[in-house]
Amino acid sequence: MSANIFVPLSHQNNTKHMLYDFSYQNPTRIHFGKNAINKLANELKAYGENILLVYGKASIKKIGLYDQVINILQAEGKHVVELAGINANPRYTQLLEGARLVREHNINLILAVGGGSVIDCAKGIACGAYAEGDVWQRYYVNQERVNNPVVPVASILTMAGTGSEMNGGSVITNEETKEKIGRVYPLEIASPKFSILNPEYTYSVPKYQMISGIFDIFSHLMEQYFSGDDDCTSDYLLEGLMLSLISASRKAIVNQEDYEARSNIMWCATMGLNKILGLSKTQDWEVHMIEHQLGAYTDCAHGIGLAIISPAYYRYIYRDGLHRFVRYAKVVWGVEDHGQGDEAIALEGINRLEAFIAELGIPATLREVGATEEMLPLIAHSTIPGGGYKQLNAEDILAILKACY
Ligand code: NZQ
Ligand code: ZN
Repeated sequence: MSANIFVPLSHQNNTKHMLYDFSYQNPTRIHFGKNAINKLANELKAYGENILLVYGKASIKKIGLYDQVINILQAEGKHVVELAGINANPRYTQLLEGARLVREHNINLILAVGGGSVIDCAKGIACGAYAEGDVWQRYYVNQERVNNPVVPVASILTMAGTGSEMNGGSVITNEETKEKIGRVYPLEIASPKFSILNPEYTYSVPKYQMISGIFDIFSHLMEQYFSGDDDCTSDYLLEGLMLSLISASRKAIVNQEDYEARSNIMWCATMGLNKILGLSKTQDWEVHMIEHQLGAYTDCAHGIGLAIISPAYYRYIYRDGLHRFVRYAKVVWGVEDHGQGDEAIALEGINRLEAFIAELGIPATLREVGATEEMLPLIAHSTIPGGGYKQLNAEDILAILKACY
């Protein structure tokens, strides 16, 4: 059974402690490290000459990466078409513009240079360019199987967080319908063919975006951890990654140019959502569902929204997964058992999560990211209801939103 990371899987059957069957292959070749860009020229040789270079607003030019990439593309004799200005929270209109360029220039490879938004948009373009009909309705709203040719995608990552560099995820915002929807395309068609990861590129990420990325990673780990009552290899991997991320993040907020910290954060991000951890795991993803609609209404940074919602969400559901919350409190946050009882231990774990969010410097309320009281019911009623331990309805979601407003 495959795990669709954006559709809550709370009702997946899983026998306690038993791994269910899976097949897994990830097609993305990772080039990691300070000199990873040196691998680009050789990778490009496998593709035809027409390249669509997709990037964001200004960052890649500021850090000199744009010039470096253009020089390599030119030296390899490529014809480069550019799609610049991809928004954080990429827009459906940008996907359509990219799709038009792909068809017009007979593009052989889409090279995304940027953060998750740029890479997500590139995947949407790749799958949508030769689709018949309404791509939004078919591939995002209806989640239809892709039945048209897909253009290969590759990425050069400049910000750690989403894991988009090694997965098939593509989260797109439709401003017209006020929806932000995640689609997980199959790894074999949409996951980047190769991704270049140089942690030094992330030094220039503004602190607000850095902490947003850090919490996005943390949330991916928790969404996969807090569901089911299983006890499989993935649970231990998830705990290890949470511990690594907490340690590295504490160093990165003190010194953004700490290579050890930034390289570990970057690898945690990639490992956090390349689907390996989710194998044979029940998963939740309801915090993501709520945040995506919060993002559709406020355009807030994804990880910041997740951090505001998470403590309120977990306080709302922890009794339904008490054993797991106790384990989390003890293993991840070092809460000691003095006989205070499981509920108190579990709650202390959530309190420590909240303290960590504050330590990162993330705001604590929805109003600080532009939500208004009038938006809360609209967000609640447009969120896909689901949940790991507790099946939520729109009223539950509204109560959670009010608790962190
Ligand atoms: O536009 P530019 O100038 O590039 O600036 C970006 C943007 O403003 C900036 N930035 C990126 N790298 C930089 C940099 N600034 C300075 N130096 C650098 N090296 O950071 C800002 C945010 O970039 P963005 O790509 O939006 O951030 P992130 O990587 O967090 O991506 C967020 C998007 O990914 C989706 C989110 O919902 C959101 O739309 N997600 C994708 C997932 C997936 N593919 O699996 C899973 C996630 O859960 C998430 O939903
Ligand atoms: Zn996320």
